[in-house]
Amino acid sequence: MPQSEGAPRRFSFQIMRKTTPRSHPTGAYFVIFGVLALLTAGVLLLMQSVSERQREGRQDAFRVVPLTEDVVDPAVWGQNYPNQYDSYKRTVDVQRTRYGGSEAIQKLDDDRALRVIFNGYAFGTDYREERGHAYMLIDQNDTERVKQFKQPGACLNCHASVAPAFYQKGVEAGAPASDRAAAIKKGFDVVNVMPYADAAKLVQHPITCNDCHNPENMQLRITRPAFLAGIDALAKSKDAVPHLPSIERWRAAGSKGDFNPNLEATRQEMRSFVCAQCHVEYYFKGAEKTLTFPWQNGLKVEQIASYYDAVGWKDWVHKDSGSNSLKAQHPEFEMWSQGVHAASGVACADCHMPYERVGAVKASDHWVRSPMLNINNACQGCHKFSETELKNRVTTIQDRTRALMTRAEDAVVGLIQDLAKAKAGGATDAQLAKAQDLQRTAQWRLDFVAAENSMGFHAPGESARILGESIDYARQGQIELLKVVKPTSDLGAPVATKP
Ligand code: HEC
Ligand code: HEC
Ligand code: HEC
Ligand code: HEC
Ligand code: HEC
Repeated sequence: MPQSEGAPRRFSFQIMRKTTPRSHPTGAYFVIFGVLALLTAGVLLLMQSVSERQREGRQDAFRVVPLTEDVVDPAVWGQNYPNQYDSYKRTVDVQRTRYGGSEAIQKLDDDRALRVIFNGYAFGTDYREERGHAYMLIDQNDTERVKQFKQPGACLNCHASVAPAFYQKGVEAGAPASDRAAAIKKGFDVVNVMPYADAAKLVQHPITCNDCHNPENMQLRITRPAFLAGIDALAKSKDAVPHLPSIERWRAAGSKGDFNPNLEATRQEMRSFVCAQCHVEYYFKGAEKTLTFPWQNGLKVEQIASYYDAVGWKDWVHKDSGSNSLKAQHPEFEMWSQGVHAASGVACADCHMPYERVGAVKASDHWVRSPMLNINNACQGCHKFSETELKNRVTTIQDRTRALMTRAEDAVVGLIQDLAKAKAGGATDAQLAKAQDLQRTAQWRLDFVAAENSMGFHAPGESARILGESIDYARQGQIELLKVVKPTSDLGAPVATKP
């Protein structure tokens, strides 16, 4: 109420003059007491309203529906948290960036080397650019990798809201209903090994609120057994993880029992761990098809390779060269772990789910997407550069990575073609073994960068190191072959790959 200085004073002075002479002294005390009481009540009301505003700012919601573990439908959660639900729904939007975005282009047509590199494997038939979270279940159902090949229920782990289905199957299989974690683990074992089509009947939704949030208090949580096992294995390894301080603390305290991120991890770590339930390299172990994250030796490309070598794992035998080959899958968490942002404590959610203003409140943007479509919120909170400057820096990193990757592809394709020729020319398995092994090594490194979805941005130096090694191993493989096959004038020239 902005008023001129004099007016209210004159007004109250007039009242005083009128009332004071006529009223009894105790009456005046009652008036003063009453005014003080009203003032106090007013201040208390104001404080309450301020703290409610603060709570609103944090949660932006009053609970209108009760949420429990059984509520899977995000629309119901959306009644309590409309802002988060609105942005979550926008993951259906489709927009491309220079190297990313959400248009499901066929990578095999975009980059011809991939058909040679994945010859004989399911990825050689259909391999697309990924898109928004809303599509994860549809796209898995529709891929030729599921239509033409037999896949297990384990595929669903990262493409649907699976925890309620795991729980139900676990209880049916005899796990105690009162121990939710144990029942989920048991159900995980049951569903992994089911045929894909049967398992898919158990789920209705792509990733939903309960995959990342505890329904009681909205705190971030890990729901998936594969990540719990993987991060425990990493904690028990000797790999230094200074970007994950809770693991370092747990180790310093004697590595007792299992490392449980739901109990040990900091809030900032959880802002990456929820994503690392899915955006990681994986394989299906044994006849049980147990979804496994290969982190026993650490998160780096060569540590994962040494794990696969030790357990004798191969994804497929290459059709042209006969090599026992590996395919990397979206190692975003592993690559981010080697970068300067992780080292500086910057989480996945900082760039992919930045805070946004919605009216008077701040909310995490649940439209998980390329930060290049959202530079203002995603980057400029920390970097005081212009949008153009930030875009240029990212483009420089990505163009460099892409150029080096093309060289690595040329080198690996060259080795595959030389191996195919040597085979056709009658070289024995023993003669080819060393070069085949070098193909496995070179191709794994190339794919670790190619299958990672940031085109080098998450860890530019590490990506370049890995690609440099890839080129070197592939050329070493070609040199090995020179020892066993007579050099011919066409060695190194392209051979026609089978359709
Ligand atoms: C410092 C910011 C930053 C952090 C932290 C970060 N990212 Fe990214 N991420 C990017 C940028 C920039 C791109 C490149 C986007 C593009 O090319 O359009 C990207 C690309 C991606 C993509 C591909 C997006 C697309 O549109 O194709 C995925 C998936 C991804 N990141 C997941 C993660 C995960 C998971 C983490 C944490 C383990 C993480 N990111 C951490 C900035 C970040
Ligand atoms: C550990 C988690 C995880 C598992 C298990 C998993 N996926 Fe995915 N999948 C992802 C992530 C993350 C993406 C998005 C990033 C990408 O495409 O690289 C993705 C993308 C996809 C895509 C879209 C892009 C493409 O590759 O064409 C398809 C289709 C797909 N997965 C099918 C499958 C099938 C089939 C299986 C079982 C063999 C499977 N997924 C198992 C996490 C997983
Ligand atoms: C339940 C597994 C799962 C979790 C958890 C998960 N993602 Fe994804 N994510 C996927 C899959 C699968 C896709 C690809 C969907 C498709 O192509 O149909 C994907 C796609 C993406 C994309 C590409 C979007 C686009 O528009 O192209 C980004 C970026 C991304 N995820 C980042 C994240 C971040 C950051 C987190 C953590 C806050 C996270 N994801 C948590 C499975 C997951
Ligand atoms: C991929 C994981 C993921 C999914 C799925 C997800 N969230 Fe979140 N949510 C986050 C992260 C990360 C934060 C930031 C939490 C923090 O910093 O402590 C967050 C924060 C929130 C908050 C706290 C306020 C804020 O905006 O920061 C609310 C409320 C919320 N989410 C509601 C929802 C609702 C409703 C859904 C379903 C429609 C949902 N979330 C789905 C990861 C997720
Ligand atoms: C939460 C804060 C934060 C956010 C958000 C963030 N950064 Fe950074 N960024 C840092 C820090 C800290 C460094 C380390 C260097 C430094 O201290 O300046 C860094 C370094 C970088 C570098 C140098 C990389 C290198 O390897 O040397 C680039 C480029 C960069 N950021 C771009 C981006 C882009 C693009 C985004 C948005 C997609 C982004 N950053 C989001 C904090 C952040």
